[in-house]
Amino acid sequence: MAKIIDGKQIAEEVKTKLKNKIESLKENGITPHLSVLLIGDNPASHVYVSMKEKACSKLKISSEVRRLSKELSQEEVIKNVEELNNNKDVNGILIQLPLPKHLNENEILMKINPQKDVDGLHPVNFGKLLAGNPEFVPCTPAGILEILEYENIDPEGKHAVVVGRSNIVGKPIAALLMRKAKGGNATVTVCHTRTKETAHFTRQADILIAAMGVPETITGDMVKEGAVVIDVGMNRVDDPTAKKGYRLVGDVHFESVEKKVKAITPVPGGVGPLTIAMLMKNTVLAAKNQNLS
Ligand SMILES: NC(=O)c1ccc[n+]([C@@H]2O[C@H](COP(=O)([O-])OP(=O)(O)OC[C@H]3O[C@@H](n4cnc5c(N)ncnc54)[C@H](OP(=O)(O)O)[C@@H]3O)[C@@H](O)[C@H]2O)c1
Repeated sequence: MAKIIDGKQIAEEVKTKLKNKIESLKENGITPHLSVLLIGDNPASHVYVSMKEKACSKLKISSEVRRLSKELSQEEVIKNVEELNNNKDVNGILIQLPLPKHLNENEILMKINPQKDVDGLHPVNFGKLLAGNPEFVPCTPAGILEILEYENIDPEGKHAVVVGRSNIVGKPIAALLMRKAKGGNATVTVCHTRTKETAHFTRQADILIAAMGVPETITGDMVKEGAVVIDVGMNRVDDPTAKKGYRLVGDVHFESVEKKVKAITPVPGGVGPLTIAMLMKNTVLAAKNQNLS
């Protein structure tokens, strides 16, 4: 039987440690502030942003959410980003992804002041991460590292297989796991849609990170006995028996995989809570960097 990793508990511990840092910033007259741009009406994005707002309020981090129309032009979005860049009371800027199709995501992310880029997606922060000198680490990969550390799972010398190569999860977690530093030093394989026979690789994984966005794709026959499985996936599947008409499932088929592995993160309650906790951590770091260094 696998250990079911309790992401909520780990996230609570991260947030408890943060409280002291926030207190000491407040003693210096600094209240960390996060601004979120939420563009359009993607229901999942609205839920995630509400969760982020709630987390800020619990930790007494000040926050503002600009809920903007899906019709907003590229220029108008950039104008919003620049306003936030120029506002010295704003420490962190988060643009909730995905953006409506007509917007150029890369160009918009490039406009964020890297010192306020608490999602770690600006090329400066991405570059620092790749150079082995991370500053603002994207929140989900940072959360995965937090889980591994908390569970005493040292990636050094292990074979980590990452399924997915997105900028927000797959690429940064692969870079972090392979870096020459504590919490890294793994041998990393990255699979994607052009990989021939993904199962050939996942079966070799000591640590398997599933980040494809395809419900329950990693099945029991695709994992090695005793592996550690981190399920990043967060997929809504129709379920007429559920109150909301859908339920959340991961990219891993939990029932068949859980029987074989040493530890696994559930969905929900695994990686998700850590993503939010790491956003809070990055916001506090940004406030500290901008005021005390
Ligand atoms: N828990 C959280 O806090 C959190 C945070 C972020 C994301 N997520 C969830 O994590 C999942 C991934 O998110 P994302 O933003 O990284 O997704 P994404 O941008 O859609 O990227 C998915 C990646 O998976 C690859 N892929 C898709 N199907 C595959 C398959 N059958 N076999 C191998 N590779 C496959 C794609 O390959 P190609 O590059 O070849 O297209 C792509 O690189 C989603 O369910 C998302 O909701 C959760």
